[in-house]
Amino acid sequence: MTDLSEEERQQNRLPESGMLRARSVLKAADSVVFFTGAGMSADSGVPTFRGSGGLWRGFRPEDLATPQAFESSPDLVRSWYQWRRELISNVTPHAGHQALAQWCLKSRSENRVITQNVDGLHQRAGCPDVIELHGSILHDRCHQCCKVSSDLNQITCGCGGNFRPAVVWFGEALPESEVTRSLELVDSCGAMVVVGTSAVVYPAAGLVTQALQRGVPVIEVNPDPVLPAPVLRLTGSASAVLPRLLAARHRSTGEDQQ
Ligand code: OAD
Repeated sequence: MTDLSEEERQQNRLPESGMLRARSVLKAADSVVFFTGAGMSADSGVPTFRGSGGLWRGFRPEDLATPQAFESSPDLVRSWYQWRRELISNVTPHAGHQALAQWCLKSRSENRVITQNVDGLHQRAGCPDVIELHGSILHDRCHQCCKVSSDLNQITCGCGGNFRPAVVWFGEALPESEVTRSLELVDSCGAMVVVGTSAVVYPAAGLVTQALQRGVPVIEVNPDPVLPAPVLRLTGSASAVLPRLLAARHRSTGEDQQ
């Protein structure tokens, strides 16, 4: 990180003042976009992509999550996803997922979660209308004709193509309607909260740039913050920070404020 302002230095020394500022930002906003990445699920036990637990049998996720890897080594890529699916089915949403879901359910305003995660943990916590920019690991789709299937044991599609996880891989386009909705939401939101992403994978990370360019207040929740000033940093894990950030709003203003 570079160029911390004096205000931010104070904020880093005094986390409580950062929390108070963040709460007032959310209170003032008509609508809030929550943009989440792999760090959101880390406290549930799902390894992040670029963290130390991201390797699988010595492979980097970036080398397996590509159409080329699937086309040349489909069994290897399927095995990796099988491992990830088992892992995800054995974990549960944490207190941060729950707090965020409750907040979206209870607030009247147009608050939305846009996620890069494919694990479905926001939805399992009860979060309504989650926008999945990178698809979902819970389904397969045909690599050839794009038919979606919930039978994860089916290898070959009727069209002759191979089934693969219904996620977006490097080099592939993001789903158009999700991108359009995300751009519209970021274009009209009053604040953005960025949780647990290294914000290096585009076009998803461009949503943060878009919010900053609009001059919208951006709050970052990350034990190891990455976003440049003037982002308001809440340094800590999603499961610790989000319940504190979001619960207070309902306590102080009633459940259906605004
Ligand atoms: P990364 O693995 O790149 O980044 C995870 C971020 O989460 C890092 O900034 C960590 O500091 C932070 N983090 C770690 N533990 C945390 C915790 N307990 N609470 C909050 N934050 C925590 O993951 P993404 O940014 O999500 O795309 O990666 C973006 C995309 O790259 C993924 O969606 C995936 C990947 O390759 C595709 O597969 C297309």
